Formats: sequence, structure tokens, C-alpha cells
Amino acid sequence: MDKYAVWGNPIAQSKSPQIHQFFAQQTRQKMEYVAILGDEVHFESQLLAFFAAGAKGCNITAPFKQRAYQLAQVYSKRALTAGACNTLKKLDNGELYADNTDGAGLVSDLQRLDWLKPNQSILILGAGGATQGVLLPLLQARQNITIANRTLAKAQDLADKFAQYGKVSAVQLNDIPAHQFNLVINATSLGLQGQTAPINQDILKLAHAVYDMQYAKQCDTPFIAWAKSLGVQNLSDGFGMLVGQAAHSFALWRGVMPDVTSLIIQEII
Ligand code: ATR
Repeated sequence: MDKYAVWGNPIAQSKSPQIHQFFAQQTRQKMEYVAILGDEVHFESQLLAFFAAGAKGCNITAPFKQRAYQLAQVYSKRALTAGACNTLKKLDNGELYADNTDGAGLVSDLQRLDWLKPNQSILILGAGGATQGVLLPLLQARQNITIANRTLAKAQDLADKFAQYGKVSAVQLNDIPAHQFNLVINATSLGLQGQTAPINQDILKLAHAVYDMQYAKQCDTPFIAWAKSLGVQNLSDGFGMLVGQAAHSFALWRGVMPDVTSLIIQEII
């Protein structure tokens, strides 16, 4: 049976095995998909051994997205611009192909929510790997993007790098212009510590919709809870993005795109 896995550290929390098993059943694909705890020191040799033993592909999650990217020989454009990959596929000639489906997962979810009209203004909070992974697909969807970050230089670097793909600018997190953004996306890692990005709350009050790339099962993430308390009507955590990025990886490996709607709406896993 064709073998796949998700690699990360920690990995016990990963929903990817359940998501891919659901997709495999739905599309009648015979495949195995497991979670593997990568070793902080020996990750590269572990991953290469996994492929040498016949595995067909894998997902990569924190903290290995950049390290896995270094092991590939062939890259999708979206992996190249992200400088990181969440998906590897073994090609027929034995080379490893790196892709990054995080941005496609976000774009699919925003389309599902009907939040992605052309020429909108989007505010992204954070300028780390999560932001870098989604900028190209959002700009290709003709969104005008403002990146706000605590460390302005990191936001400015991303804005400079992605300016060739569309309208993107950088601001300091505590200096965001009062503007009615169509969408505010949290891509900081603050929710992991139960915190929210320290931005002027008026920015959220004015926003048409608020999306958190993080997700929490059966409760609100700190950022969503804050936006809700301020009266924002259109809210979503990142569960649909998680399912969406998995679906795009699955399609790359198996040549068939699963239907994500029932999984997202019913939160089956
Ligand atoms: P990820 O891969 O999840 O994006 P990351 O690359 O470490 O993780 O990026 C974390 C993001 O959260 C960064 O934008 C970081 O801001 P800095 O670039 O200034 O470090 C942001 N972040 C983390 N802790 C923060 C805090 N206490 N206040 C504001 N922003 C914070």
C-alpha cells in the first residue's frame, strides 16, 4: 500500500492522519497515512530513510518546513516564494518535489466563506513563516495586502520580496492606519500562548471579517474570542485552512481533489 505521513515535533496533536484517512475513504484510494515524530537533530536522515523505504509523499509541519525544503530537488513556485514546504512528493525519477499548499488552503477556505472578492484590502498580522506561506496565493487572488508586524523590518522584507506579485505594504503592529479592512487575518503565533496581537481594537471593530490561521476544537481561539467580544459578525478560525491545505496535498499525490465541505461543516474529526 502507498505510504504517506506527516512529520513534525510535537506531532501528537496533528489532525492530518484523520483528515487524509477521511479523504482516502471518500475517494476510494488505498493508502496509509501516519504521524511521525521528527527528531530535532536527525530529521534529515530520518526523512530520507522514509523515502528510501518506498514512501510516496509526506506533509511537513513545525518546526521542519524549512529543513524539508532544503532536501528537495524540484520546487513549485509557491514553495519557492514561501522558502518552505508543507508537502513533499517522490517523483517517478526518485527526486523529491516540494510544494507549499498552505496558501491554497487559506484561499480555498476564504472562497468557501465567500470572503474573497477581487481588490479587497486585507490586513495580515505577523510576518513569520505562516505569512510568507500565504502571500503569493493571496496576491494572485488580487488582494491588496498590508502586513503588520512587531518587527517592522521583517514585514518590510516580505513586502519588498512580494511587491512583484501585487499590492503589498508593511506597517508596525502598533501603528496600523485606521482603515476599514475587508478582512483581518491573524498569522502571529501569539494564540499558542493564549494571547492576542496587541493592535488597536478599532481596527477589528471596523473590519468586515476576521480570520485566525490557528484553530481550536470546540472553542474560540483567543483572537476569535476577542473579535467576537468587539461585535465582529464574520469570524472564522483556521480549521478550514487546515483541511484545505491537506486537500491540495492529497490532490498532488493522488490526482484527485477530495470534497472538503462535509469535513469542515460537520467538524467530523
Ligand atoms: P510562524 O511560522 O507560525 O509564522 P514565526 O515565523 O516564529 O512563526 O512567526 C511568529 C510571528 O508572530 C511573527 O510575526 C512574530 O513577530 P516578530 O517578527 O516581531 O517576532 C509574531 N509574534 C510572536 N510573539 C509576538 C508578540 N509577543 N507580540 C507581537 N508579535 C509576536
